[in-house]
Amino acid sequence: MRPFVHCLDPETLPWEPIFETGVNRRFYNTDPANQSFTSIALVPKGWVGPSGAHYHTSFEEAYILEGSLTLDGTEYLKPESYLYRPGMIVHGWTELSEESALIIIKRGGAADIISVGEALHDYEYPFEEIYDGRQHILHLKTAEMGWTPKGDGLSSCNVKVLSVDKDSSDSTYLMSLPSGWQGEIQSADGRGLECIIVQGAAELADGTHMDRLHYLYRPPGDRTAPIVSAPKGCLVLVWEATPH
Ligand SMILES: [Fe+2]
Repeated sequence: MRPFVHCLDPETLPWEPIFETGVNRRFYNTDPANQSFTSIALVPKGWVGPSGAHYHTSFEEAYILEGSLTLDGTEYLKPESYLYRPGMIVHGWTELSEESALIIIKRGGAADIISVGEALHDYEYPFEEIYDGRQHILHLKTAEMGWTPKGDGLSSCNVKVLSVDKDSSDSTYLMSLPSGWQGEIQSADGRGLECIIVQGAAELADGTHMDRLHYLYRPPGDRTAPIVSAPKGCLVLVWEATPH
């Protein structure tokens, strides 16, 4: 299971290279059982992916914070773009970033890059079918999605659901907390809660200030120091997931 993380500022973490790809990342949290992790990755300006068509054995989930990049030479991921790619999907035949990019990346297992040589298609396709309760999402433009209201009174906020596992109901969503919001962000029973502040700032129940890009993880049933207020409002990327 992933360890409890009270409130982590990524500026305190070292940048670590992703193999020889030219991309560096900081690890927010890693599950020692299966090496799945949540990270923030920095793609340098002028980057060209060196791997060619490849796949990863476990799922990959990404949310773009800044800059832009393309994985196929045509579709450009921009701020607020989201993708969910199950394991074993061939992609990345033309990877470029003209202007650099800052990305939140979550992976379902240890980082691996398996090159396949020439891609068989000009669209993402499975090298081998494996079951995933979540749909393959190539490019969700979350900026263009409508908000769904949630809660009432001081705790009312807005939500955009990005991805849901149809078997476990584990989900990834954005929460927009208006200025002056007061409430408690908790996960449903049996699920761990992972939060990253994407814009603005929030306060935890123990008085800790949680700034942009800060991270927390609460294992299932752990209700320690939840996010309870957002004096000036904030946007939070949230995962609720059953540990494996
Ligand atoms: Fe990849």
